[in-house]
Amino acid sequence: PDFTVEILPEIDSTNSELMRRARAGQHEPTLLVAERQSAGRGRMGRVWQSQAGDSLTFSLSLPMSPQDWSGLSLAVGLSLAESLHAEVGLKWPNDLWFQSRKLGGILVEAASMGGRSQVVIGVGLNIRPRPAEGLSTAPAALTELLPQLTAPACLSQVVPPLIRAMLDFEHTGFAPLLSRFEVRDVLKGQRVHTSDGQQGLCLGLTPGGALRLQTDLGVQEIHSAEVSVRPL
Ligand code: BTN
Repeated sequence: PDFTVEILPEIDSTNSELMRRARAGQHEPTLLVAERQSAGRGRMGRVWQSQAGDSLTFSLSLPMSPQDWSGLSLAVGLSLAESLHAEVGLKWPNDLWFQSRKLGGILVEAASMGGRSQVVIGVGLNIRPRPAEGLSTAPAALTELLPQLTAPACLSQVVPPLIRAMLDFEHTGFAPLLSRFEVRDVLKGQRVHTSDGQQGLCLGLTPGGALRLQTDLGVQEIHSAEVSVRPL
């Protein structure tokens, strides 16, 4: 499909802007890139902070009506990881991970208006290293893996495969991607605990994209939670 591409020096949040447009009935496929976000948002109401120049922040808005929405954000993460580098890992549900640190995050939102759904896929990728800034460990950066990488080069590397992946996802869902996700799954085989109090051995994912945990009560399927690798 044809995409409108917009690059702005600053906006509150590329996801917020494309969600506002979707709710106002604008359904054109759009790629919105911001050099700076004043109110970048993460999952679970968190803040996404980045300094101009140290990261790539963009959102992609497209009309989409998949049979099954579950696993959409996993498909986004997989596409990004595969288009970036063999050593980029995936931490369920949708963080990009490298050497036990976060490399990037994904925020998928959807707006439904008059029977049409528009999906807004927000991506934040750390390009250059930066200090921990209150976090216990500094986040990972893509230049650790790809020393020459710049934000514009990264954008043109990840966006075309991402658009293709979304068109495929609409028809096939997550199940055919499961084995490719598993290759990069950083939680599988680890003891983990979830934000809703469960803990166990991570067995990987279901074909629908839920996390499978071997717990004392048997195998549990987790559909939404935050997961950490259990400290010993
Ligand atoms: C997360 O890790 O919790 C998700 C972070 C998603 C950040 C991106 S940056 C571009 C887009 N606009 C936003 O406000 N958030 C996403």
